Amino acid sequence: MRAARFHEYGGVENLVIEQAPDPHPGPGEIRVRVAAASVNPIDWKLRTGALREMLPLEPPAIPGRDAAGVVDEIGDGVREVSIGDRVFGLGGITGASAELVILSAWAHTPANWTDEQAAGAALASVTAMRGLNALGPLTGRTLLIEGAAGGVGSAGVEIAAARGATVIGTASERNHEFLTSLGAVPTTYGPGLAQRLTALAPHGVDIALDTAASGSLEDIVAITGDPTRVATVADHAGGQRLGTHVVNAENDSDLLSEAAELGRQGHYTPSIEQTYPLKAIADAHAHAERGRTRGKIVILI
Ligand SMILES: NC(=O)c1ccc[n+]([C@@H]2O[C@H](COP(=O)([O-])OP(=O)(O)OC[C@H]3O[C@@H](n4cnc5c(N)ncnc54)[C@H](OP(=O)(O)O)[C@@H]3O)[C@@H](O)[C@H]2O)c1
Repeated sequence: MRAARFHEYGGVENLVIEQAPDPHPGPGEIRVRVAAASVNPIDWKLRTGALREMLPLEPPAIPGRDAAGVVDEIGDGVREVSIGDRVFGLGGITGASAELVILSAWAHTPANWTDEQAAGAALASVTAMRGLNALGPLTGRTLLIEGAAGGVGSAGVEIAAARGATVIGTASERNHEFLTSLGAVPTTYGPGLAQRLTALAPHGVDIALDTAASGSLEDIVAITGDPTRVATVADHAGGQRLGTHVVNAENDSDLLSEAAELGRQGHYTPSIEQTYPLKAIADAHAHAERGRTRGKIVILI
């Protein structure tokens, strides 16, 4: 199969398009002919070697954590999916930026989503939902999402709004209209956030989801008044120090099905800022690495 790979840790110039062995699914897994794969921060953090202590790779490695496409091989024990079905989902920490990928968690792609949208849904929605689930019921509560314009944040806004929260999201001003379109009240991040929130939520902020890793976690805990009302998916050290919920994505098909159902109902439509062809994956990674992505960046296979 054709795949993007890197043979050693380093910059985007290490990404090459070449032939790689076709993978085959083990028990409980499926193989998908990939239409589109998304780019997540973990892709470039793994490629540069920044995570080599925690998550060592054995290059050559194919970047990509999540993808969408059509099922073309089914492992032992897999039920409720057939060859030819449109699915999106999660594989290993690498492997998705290729013609074929193995997924261990998936859901059927809603008919009203494009392949690009489905590719942008998996890691972002599961991460957002695990963060939101740590915060308890959402109906009638005021939720702050720090980093609301990114992949996880924008999914979190739509999903939390669908579950009945009043959502306030932080982003730079150029993204405020985008946040409004998703259903959040926008405000800027950084100094003075507590004062801006007092004006926007006179009764206070009940709970908060941090997706930004910007060093603001202590301020956010002060805003909610209690670390257990805060979940972070991005600042693990800060969250552990302050006693917030610290949440990671998991390959969870139930959460993917929940995201897909919200998609079918029109409550969740993954926002794609830009698509790139596989041959331009270096540009896609460079774009993602700038840390200013609005929604998701997707690679078309
Ligand atoms: N724990 C897990 O399992 C897990 C899973 C997925 C992601 N993550 C982590 O979660 C974080 C977010 O992931 P992502 O995919 O959403 O990343 P992303 O799409 O690259 O996030 C980009 C967004 O971050 C916003 N941003 C930049 N600086 C900010 C700041 N100081 N305050 C608030 N927002 C800021 C930008 O908004 P502006 O352009 O408006 O500034 C942009 O929209 C990353 O650190 C990622 O590694 C963790």
